[in-house]
Amino acid sequence: MASTRKRHAVELFSGLPAHYDRVGAVMSFGQDPRWRRALVDYIAAAPGMSILDVATGTGMVAFAHAERGADVIGLDQSEAMLSGAQARLAATPGLAGRLAFRRGEAEALPFPDASFDALSFTYLLRYVDDPAATLAELARVVKPGGRIGMVEFGVPGDPALRALWRVHTRVGLPLIGRVVSEDWYEVGRFLGPNIEAFHAGRPDLLALWRAAGIGQLVRRDLSFGAGLVILGVKDAATSA
Ligand SMILES: C[S@@+](CC[C@H](N)C(=O)[O-])C[C@H]1O[C@@H](n2cnc3c(N)ncnc32)[C@H](O)[C@@H]1O
Repeated sequence: MASTRKRHAVELFSGLPAHYDRVGAVMSFGQDPRWRRALVDYIAAAPGMSILDVATGTGMVAFAHAERGADVIGLDQSEAMLSGAQARLAATPGLAGRLAFRRGEAEALPFPDASFDALSFTYLLRYVDDPAATLAELARVVKPGGRIGMVEFGVPGDPALRALWRVHTRVGLPLIGRVVSEDWYEVGRFLGPNIEAFHAGRPDLLALWRAAGIGQLVRRDLSFGAGLVILGVKDAATSA
């Protein structure tokens, strides 16, 4: 039986793929592509590498890895979001042999231990019931020494900027969403409180990564803290 959080995550993304890439960028003042680039540069995809991109959505990060020559699987629990990724792949035949999309859940990945050279995920942990267990599951499928990285929304630390961020998330995002569609209005209303609650409940996010067997951690707060990139390496000593 799926939890309320899980059902909400599936419903939330069922109506978004059509405008996802453009509206997502507008909602982050155009910053989100920059955050994603920091992740993609760190993973440093190259020919011969196998990479899993979890919560791939419309596949933006997965495409970026594949364009660098790696073999990539993009995984997401939402059929609707994956249909956006598949449509894009159909229009990019050059990548068809190296990039595939698959439905699945981050909490129980359908892959054996140590299957991938590297793993990326974007905007996932706020949607799972147990972020610590999910991080451990993500680390399980990465080879020891493999890179793992994520992008997430953050909350600016500076009080004046945080106040502006609150206005943007509580007033601006719902307004932007309203212009696009009822589904996006729902996202616009949901995001600000959800981001704050997530970080308030986990002030030491890096501790979860360490507990999952991921070390050499780097935390980058981008765009005054509105974007958060965490990068690490799966411990060689971690057996699973
Ligand atoms: C905000 S979107 C981000 C999509 C993409 N990563 C990007 O940056 O454009 C969040 C994605 O996470 C997916 N998702 C949420 N919970 C998930 C889970 N437990 N397992 C797999 N995918 C999940 C949603 O279906 C959605 O496509």
